[in-house]
Amino acid sequence: MTADARQPPEARSSRAQLALALRRYRLLFGEVVEDWNGFIDALARPLATCVWSHPGRVEGAALMDLLGEQGVPAAPVPWLAGAPGTALLLPPAFKAGQHWWYCAGLAHAQEAVSQLPALLLGLAPGQRVLDLCAAPGGKTAQIALALGNGGTLLANDFAPERIAALQGNLDRLGIVNVSTTWADGANYPAAAGPFDRILVDAPCSSEGTLRRNPRLVGKMGPERSRRMASRQRALLRKAARLCRPGGRILYSTCTFAPEENELVVADILAEQDGRLRLLPASRSAQPPGLASGPGVIRWQGRVLPDELAHCLRVWPHANDTGGFFVAVLEKAADAPCLPEPKSVALTLEASDADRCAAVAQYYGLPEIGTRFRAHRQTRRGLHLVALDHAAPGAPPTQARGLFFHRTNLRPAKLTTAGALLLGAGASRQVLDLDTPGERDAYLRREILVPTAAQRANCRPGQVMVRHRGWPLGVAVLHRSGDLESLFPRKWSGCTAGV
Ligand SMILES: C[S@@+](CC[C@H](N)C(=O)[O-])C[C@H]1O[C@@H](n2cnc3c(N)ncnc32)[C@H](O)[C@@H]1O
Repeated sequence: MTADARQPPEARSSRAQLALALRRYRLLFGEVVEDWNGFIDALARPLATCVWSHPGRVEGAALMDLLGEQGVPAAPVPWLAGAPGTALLLPPAFKAGQHWWYCAGLAHAQEAVSQLPALLLGLAPGQRVLDLCAAPGGKTAQIALALGNGGTLLANDFAPERIAALQGNLDRLGIVNVSTTWADGANYPAAAGPFDRILVDAPCSSEGTLRRNPRLVGKMGPERSRRMASRQRALLRKAARLCRPGGRILYSTCTFAPEENELVVADILAEQDGRLRLLPASRSAQPPGLASGPGVIRWQGRVLPDELAHCLRVWPHANDTGGFFVAVLEKAADAPCLPEPKSVALTLEASDADRCAAVAQYYGLPEIGTRFRAHRQTRRGLHLVALDHAAPGAPPTQARGLFFHRTNLRPAKLTTAGALLLGAGASRQVLDLDTPGERDAYLRREILVPTAAQRANCRPGQVMVRHRGWPLGVAVLHRSGDLESLFPRKWSGCTAGV
């Protein structure tokens, strides 16, 4: 089936509709970009799906092999070669989330252009980072991995239901260096302390996602963009305050509207009066092989300072992607610095330390406390964070790290996120489901009857389920020989085998 055939015909916008809806940008063509017809043609085509491989779990080539076994063509994105993991383009409308390797946290689906911020932020382990508008967390996860899954990354969002989706993604991907917060980013407390890097991936009119969301075509316009701009300015203004002197802020949107892009950046630069400067994202820093354009410096009678050309615009027809905007700002080294934050003390009572030792012993895992800091946040069970993670006291955190051990059940149970994080190192109570049929039945929560050879390493009780060495989750091996899947219902978007 072709990609176009999969898309309901009424859902795609015609060229004429697109050209009408976007006509106010026509005057940028010939000035900062060429080929209006190519632009409209690109927006009328469906967009390739993009996934990145989890760098700690699978090589890009091995993920391509897994896709090849399913008959799915995959091609690396050359200009994302420096990003964490290998970015692979798959056919449009491909539903990555329904496949076993996705459930097992070997990959994450994220538009190719949306992977630019993690690449352009200049990340290195040891930095303290804030992702101010983080949900559903694709960029958070990439930043977390670029920091080596260590140190401190705060992921904030305004929408509680979107924080739940963010946490689900971080859990599946085994991220242990993130604390999540629920706050209006424009009022983020200064007590959270200075950050070396801040991502402001701002809420926007999303015109650059038209290839994925054709229905947006009726909802765009300058009024909407002007409304969004005041919130965007407030978010960027707060980021300027929270950034450490010498640190960087990356402001990004997925829209074409200069009102939400260069004009927002220009206003904040003017307010900051020399304490912030734009780094040249559109020239020296851009990834090799990416065709990008400069920022707009003239728009509807307003003339912006020349430095706004340092912003980077990715036009959909230049690399066959969605549209994207990036500005990288650096705070002056001699600007005043916020006081360092007070961090929350993470405690582990002796009974909980015994529980950690017991679970490690049960599955034959390396000692947990030498790699992670276990602690209790709720009565439900225990979380793991990176050893050097320091969550601030304000704003209050929603969760610190990954919920790995459910202790309010009898018997206590390793969570699926815990199994995905730790299970590759298990040497006891491991049951391998090596056929695709068994693997998919486990993910669909069906009862399985493993062979005596499969059960050889296991006593009745909880077992770690793996497929070709990759952990999938936990199950209960009953005395009858039945294997009862404990794969979570809420992750069953991963219905497998689709
Ligand atoms: C473009 S999306 C972020 C996408 C995310 N960075 C990712 O890569 O998955 C913008 C997000 O900003 C959040 N948001 C909107 N207003 C906000 C505010 N005042 N403070 C914090 N987050 C806000 C929205 O809930 C939304 O999740």
